[in-house]
Amino acid sequence: MQIKSIRGFKDILPGEVEKWQFAEGEARRIFGLFGFSEFRIPVVERTDLFVRSIGEATDIVGKEMYTFQDRDGDSITLRPEATASIMRAYLEHGLNVQEPVGKYYFIGPMFRHERPQKGRYRQFHQIDAEILGVEDPWADAEILTMLIHYLGGLGLKNLGLQINSLGCPECRAPYKAEIQKFLQGRRAALCEDCRRRLETNPLRIFDCKKEECREALRTAPSVLDYLCPDCLNHFARVRALLDEISLPYAVNPRMVRGLDYYTRTAFEVVAGELGAQNAVCGGGRYDGLAQDIGGPRVPSIGFAIGVERLVLLLPENQNAPRPQVFLAALGEVPRRKAFSLAQELRRADIRVELDYEGKSLKSQMRKADKMRSPYVLILGDEELKRNQVILRDMASKAQEDLSFADIVGKVKTLMAKS
Ligand code: HAM
Repeated sequence: MQIKSIRGFKDILPGEVEKWQFAEGEARRIFGLFGFSEFRIPVVERTDLFVRSIGEATDIVGKEMYTFQDRDGDSITLRPEATASIMRAYLEHGLNVQEPVGKYYFIGPMFRHERPQKGRYRQFHQIDAEILGVEDPWADAEILTMLIHYLGGLGLKNLGLQINSLGCPECRAPYKAEIQKFLQGRRAALCEDCRRRLETNPLRIFDCKKEECREALRTAPSVLDYLCPDCLNHFARVRALLDEISLPYAVNPRMVRGLDYYTRTAFEVVAGELGAQNAVCGGGRYDGLAQDIGGPRVPSIGFAIGVERLVLLLPENQNAPRPQVFLAALGEVPRRKAFSLAQELRRADIRVELDYEGKSLKSQMRKADKMRSPYVLILGDEELKRNQVILRDMASKAQEDLSFADIVGKVKTLMAKS
C-alpha cells in the first residue's frame, strides 16, 4: 500500500510555496523595520511549560496537545504555540537581565490535535512576534501598528481588528464569578462542553461557536464593566494611541481568547472571506506568564498570525519562479557543453533550466514555452563547431547567433532590460 500523509498534516507544494516565501519574507522585512530580532525555539518542550502557561482548563492543554513520553520517561509536548517557549528561553538565557526589553519574532510550525477543516490543521504555521518586558500601553500600540502595517502591506483588505481588555487577575476574579452566576441560571441552554466549562473555566464559553451558547450569553455582563482603575486606564491609553495614528479597530467585549495567560489587552484580526476559521491573527498581553513558569514578573505582549489562513487571502501564483533562460542542446557533445554553460550562467545569478532527457529540439522548445522562459539558447553540433549558440527571443521569435564568450554578458543585459 502506498503510504499517505497523516490527517491534518499538509504538504505545501511549489506553486503555493511562493506565497509562503512572500509572506515570510515580508514579515522579516517589516518586523526588522520595527527593531525585532529573529528567535528560534525547539519543536518540543517539557509538557509542564504549556500546562502552566496556557492553562490546564483550556482546550489546547486539555485535548489538543501532542504529548509523549520520550525514551527517558519524560513527558514532552510538540509546541502548540510559541509564546511560552520564547518566554522560557528569554528567562533561561538571562536576556531579561542584559536588556529587559526584548523584541522578537519567530516563524515555524505548531501542533494541535484539532478537527481538521479548511484553515484548520494539526500541523500549522505561525508568524509570531512578541515585546517582552514592557508594561506601558506604548508596547500594545506599537505591536498592533506593526501587525496592521504588515498585513496591509501584503495587500489584504476587509480585515477587522477587534480589541478587548481582559483585566488583571484581581478584576477578572469577580467578573468570572459574575459570569458563572449569570450562566448557572441558563445552564440547561448550554452545550455539553460549555456545561463542563461552566465549572472549570466559565470565560471559555465566550469562545463557543454553538448558537445556543451564543444566545445564552447575549445579555451577559461585559468584562469592561469590571475592570479595576489601573486596567481601565491602561485600556484607555491603548485606545488613545491607536486613535492618535488613526488605526481602525472595534472593541469587542466578548472576545476572551483561547489561552489562559492573557491579561489586559487582547485582540484578533478576522477576515470575513475565511468562513468558520476566520481569525487570521490572535494575540494580547500576558503580564503574568513569566511568573507562571517560575520566573520574575515580565509584562509582555505579542501576536501570532496563522500562515495557512494568511496565504488563503493572498492572490494566486504571485512570484511563481520561471527560468530566465532555457538551454536546449541536441546531441551528446553539445549537451555536455550546455551543462557547463548552465553552471556559468548560474554563477552569474541567472536562473537556467535545461532538459535532462535528451529530447528532440521541438520537445525542448515546448518545455521552454511551458516554463514561460523568455529566452532559449540553442546548441547543436553545428553551433558547437563555431563556438556559438543561437539566442531565441520566445516572444518575438527573433533569433541571433552569439559566441560563447558573449553569452553571460548578453543575457545579463537582456535581464536588466526586462
Ligand atoms: P492562537 O489564537 O491560539 O494564539 O493562535 C494564533 C493564530 O494561529 C490563530 O488566529 C490562527 O490564525 C492560527 N491557528 C491556530 N490554530 C490553528 C490551526 N489548528 N490551524 C491553522 N491555524 C491555526 C496563540 O497561539 C498565541 N501564542 C498568540 C500570542 C502571541 N499571544 C501573545 N503572543
